[in-house]
Amino acid sequence: MQICETIEATRKAVGVARHAGKKIGFVPTMGALHAGHAILIRRAKSECDFVVVSIFVNPTQFGPNEDFARYPRTFEADQALCAAMGTDAIFYPTPELMYPKGYQTYVEVLEITKILDGASRPGHFRGVSTVVTKLFNIVTPDVAYFGQKDAQQCRVIQRMVQDLDMPLAIQIVETVREADGLAMSSRNRYLDPQQRHNATALYQTLIWVKEQIASGERNALHLEKEMAERIANTPGTRLDYAQILDYEAFESIELIERKVLVALAVYFDKTRLIDNFIIDV
Ligand code: PAJ
Repeated sequence: MQICETIEATRKAVGVARHAGKKIGFVPTMGALHAGHAILIRRAKSECDFVVVSIFVNPTQFGPNEDFARYPRTFEADQALCAAMGTDAIFYPTPELMYPKGYQTYVEVLEITKILDGASRPGHFRGVSTVVTKLFNIVTPDVAYFGQKDAQQCRVIQRMVQDLDMPLAIQIVETVREADGLAMSSRNRYLDPQQRHNATALYQTLIWVKEQIASGERNALHLEKEMAERIANTPGTRLDYAQILDYEAFESIELIERKVLVALAVYFDKTRLIDNFIIDV
């Protein structure tokens, strides 16, 4: 496994693989890797011949009062996980390499970033779409892999790739969960034991919504209200959003008639967790 700390080294490693006729898979991450990331790498390995993982805590996608400084950085463990999963190369740049002095170009997806995490975290998706564009330009993958856990991020990247005619395919991989249902996240390690215990409320609320819809409930507004109440009844939480969207249009709805995205964002003190289900009726 090669560790590439420059753009040139990455281009060279990928160039050699491509020249040998290999299909290039790419898994962008911010490190602090866990089983959710591992499943993306495994999927990439199963569908591609040369897999690049990027590890970069991207400063432009964090707000001024967010957790950029304290975001976990665990490069040695990440390297071991990547090696164990058969990763061919890690791209591990510094912020100075990605955003040198004078940097001033950004990519922005407009409409679908106005809701959910885009509303709660102004500028977040601008940072994501910008860094992902840069990473795509450096790695030039045939296929890039993203996790359904970040449902809106998936939509933003798919939209961007389509709108800007980027020459690659995007694959979405289902959410990996702990035994009790909590979606794996690098941010779970911020939780104290009590918060970790209460954090299953996200999954349990989503399961409850799924059951309600399965038993015929179609009133999205009613379900959103009930979701908010369930979170409010969980100690130590503050609701950011509980929303049901039309999956295709990515817009709020009153009545559930088609495939929907049920999305939750909840604070446990300063730690913000998200989760979602896609439910088809
Ligand atoms: P990060 O949070 O490290 O996540 C990297 C990838 O892993 C994302 O595609 C994310 O959706 C996926 N992932 C995280 N938890 C998962 C889980 N429990 N199950 C399945 N997949 C999971 O998302 C980012 O980094 C950044 O925004 C990035 C795209 C790298 C741009 O900086």
